[in-house]
Amino acid sequence: MPYYPDDVVNEVFAENDIVDYVSQYVRLKRVGRDYSGLCPFHREKSPSFHVSGEKQLFHCFGCGASGNLVQFVMRVEGLDFVEALKLLAERAGIALPEEGGADDNSHALKKKIYEMNKISARFFYDTLTKSPEGKIGYAYFTERKITQKTIITYGLGFARDSYTALHDFLLQKGYTDKEMLSAGLVVERDGKIYDKFRNRVMFPIIDLRGNIIGFGGRIMGQSETPSGFKLPKYLNSAETPVFNKGRNLFSLNIAKKSSPFSIILVEGYMDVITVCQAGIPNVVATLGTALTEAQAKLLLKYCSEIIICYDSDEAGQKAAIRAIDIINAAGGRSRVIKLKGAKDPDEYIKANGSAMFLQAVSEAKASTEFRLDILKTKYSLDTPEGKAMYVAQAAEALLSITDAVEVDAYINRISGETQVNKDAVYSEYRKRLSNSKTGEGSRHINREISSPQGENVHAAAALPDKSKKLIAAEKKLIYLMSRNKKYIDTVRENFNIEDFSGEIHQKLVRIIFEARDNNTLIEPSIVLNEFADSEINYVSEIFYNMEEYADNNAALFELINNIKLEKLSEKIESEKDPMVLSRLVMEMQELRRNR
Ligand code: CTP
Ligand code: MN
Repeated sequence: MPYYPDDVVNEVFAENDIVDYVSQYVRLKRVGRDYSGLCPFHREKSPSFHVSGEKQLFHCFGCGASGNLVQFVMRVEGLDFVEALKLLAERAGIALPEEGGADDNSHALKKKIYEMNKISARFFYDTLTKSPEGKIGYAYFTERKITQKTIITYGLGFARDSYTALHDFLLQKGYTDKEMLSAGLVVERDGKIYDKFRNRVMFPIIDLRGNIIGFGGRIMGQSETPSGFKLPKYLNSAETPVFNKGRNLFSLNIAKKSSPFSIILVEGYMDVITVCQAGIPNVVATLGTALTEAQAKLLLKYCSEIIICYDSDEAGQKAAIRAIDIINAAGGRSRVIKLKGAKDPDEYIKANGSAMFLQAVSEAKASTEFRLDILKTKYSLDTPEGKAMYVAQAAEALLSITDAVEVDAYINRISGETQVNKDAVYSEYRKRLSNSKTGEGSRHINREISSPQGENVHAAAALPDKSKKLIAAEKKLIYLMSRNKKYIDTVRENFNIEDFSGEIHQKLVRIIFEARDNNTLIEPSIVLNEFADSEINYVSEIFYNMEEYADNNAALFELINNIKLEKLSEKIESEKDPMVLSRLVMEMQELRRNR
């Protein structure tokens, strides 16, 4: 088995999303924080297969299959670990190191691509600002009110109307066709190499480390050619080993600089640039695709709320609703701006100036309010049926709010709008809330009553024959430690690694303690890689399966107490010395009092 360094394996995990991948095989529906569907590994009529985006794990409450993304691929494609890892690496455009070879191929190629991108950006910039062929591009930017300063800030450029300009330039700099192709700067057609970007103004896409990872290019004038052939208005670099559209955002490198409270999310490159030029630098755009959860998470690392400002047409508004869902799923807050009298932020600022745009930003609606507004237009609130449907949908829209006061305020509002009694609206809301919660509750019960099956039994059998209660409590304790560093400290004050039952538990606790010492995050999906295939289901279930407690802290202390009691009662049973026995019994009574 070839050996892959940890950071390469971690990169493969970071660049693939389990929910996204599993969706190719299973029709997933959102339930609470998770997704569920019919298990691909056993026959079933009602869904007991769950996927958690947060933990990057899957778990089937029916057959006990459980694991991370690589393990899902192994099972579903019948591959071994290395083959599955390769498949996922390829999917994410990550080049794994050559088997057996020590040379770091992927690293070298990535460096080359960054280099070529940088040289090309410089070439486009020089063409735009210094060459006669670039005049048309410069005139275009000038007409769109882009200043020289902005051209420099964004490193804008121009790709001349030529099939060979960049290719020739890069050849002369010593790069090979193969390297240029892997950077996506040229394309191959009928055995010939052509420049990919022609007759376009160019927008370099820069990552958070300042590397140019790709380009967007906008065609000059209209996208229709004289012969009637339609060229795409915007053309983006293809995915390359350094460019993943779903994981990067245009201008985040600039937006994050001011440590903003909020970041404005717009649709297009020109929108970003105009907004930034108007003195509002905390603005980004996706790269010609819909917002992904990975992008939302990335954004939320740099701000506390995302302000969606998509095009004012219907497509833009629909995309805004999808973006709200994605941001919710990523655990973030969002607001929405609906621009009046203009198609997009670029046009709005041109027409109304930046002060008016800032005003619109400050008036951005909370995402729930935005949703309710759209819902309201769908139903006639004059009829009882219309009211009922609106109230039902509106109640659904409140489920993602975590603040009880906020929920109450919206319920008041819905009741006011519809003249439906507040209690009735509340009960609609609660019904939905408990539906999404019973989902989770019954799952837990399922697990408690069904004995582990298949390989699970195997792993469980490896544990010493201690009381089931003790083992269940330890599993919960391990789960809680994986969720919060503070709990690790508390557990450590009470137990040693050896106090845990069996090799698997002890190994897990050791990994968790070590992570605490090194101040590293515990990622269940990564930890799983340290266990043997036969142990995966068992370990994954520990990370996946536990019920969220209303009060984790209280649960933690209760578990610690129970484990101590359990251990004491074992000791008492086997203790012969009456002196020791009476001391143990006293200890036991003390613990019982603490409950
Ligand atoms: N886009 C794309 N490919 C296309 C069209 C659009 O990738 N064929 C992406 C680009 O990122 C673009 C964004 O979608 O910036 C918005 O496109 P659109 O609304 O069509 O254009 P505008 O931003 O209004 O472009 P412009 O103002 O330059 O006409
Ligand atoms: Mn526009």
